[in-house]
Amino acid sequence: MEDLSLHILDVAENGIIAGADLIEISIEEDLNADELRVAIIDNGRGMTKEFLTRVLDPFVTTRTTRKVGLGLSLFQQSAQEAGGDLTVDSTSGHGTKVTVFMTHSHIDRRPLGNMAATMLTLIEGNPGVDFVYAHRKDGKEYVLDTREIRAELEEIPLNSPEVVSFIRENLVCGLREVA
Ligand SMILES: Nc1ncnc2c1ncn2[C@@H]1O[C@H](COP(=O)(O)OP(=O)(O)O)[C@@H](O)[C@H]1O
Ligand SMILES: [Mg+2]
Repeated sequence: MEDLSLHILDVAENGIIAGADLIEISIEEDLNADELRVAIIDNGRGMTKEFLTRVLDPFVTTRTTRKVGLGLSLFQQSAQEAGGDLTVDSTSGHGTKVTVFMTHSHIDRRPLGNMAATMLTLIEGNPGVDFVYAHRKDGKEYVLDTREIRAELEEIPLNSPEVVSFIRENLVCGLREVA
């Protein structure tokens, strides 16, 4: 059904809704261990212990627009279909970490999809939030850190068209080298 990049977008958006100003996304394709690992870490408001015990229940949401919260439980379902799982760690007032693993070669493992598009959607839509995206595969690594780009830009916003096209180019070329 869904590419992993869309699940990742959904989980990162949870962090933004929770007030995070830094979201770290890491993807590791460990072909030796035949594992694909994803982590999404935010410094938003986190969840209480009590809420955390229920968060993977598809009927748990603090949304007011619909009665079911599906982002995390659908991603968990995708991971479980591919021999893996999703776990959520969270500390109220500090942030949240979502960790996912899957069997890389599993026949039901969803494709990674378009991570460049996911990152561009996040960056363009949330110019006040910083993102670190690290993608590792077979000893190769690509890292995008908007804090470094922001430091160079001074007062130019991260979502201005020239900056977005620079980031797009960087993502597309960088990911092509890793994959
Ligand atoms: N990173 C996060 N920080 C704080 N709360 C979160 C986070 N992720 C999820 N939540 C809480 O868990 C609920 C369920 O999340 P999710 O499964 O993605 O469904 P939805 O976003 O549609 O509500 C959210 O409504 C929110 O209250
Ligand atoms: Mg969600």
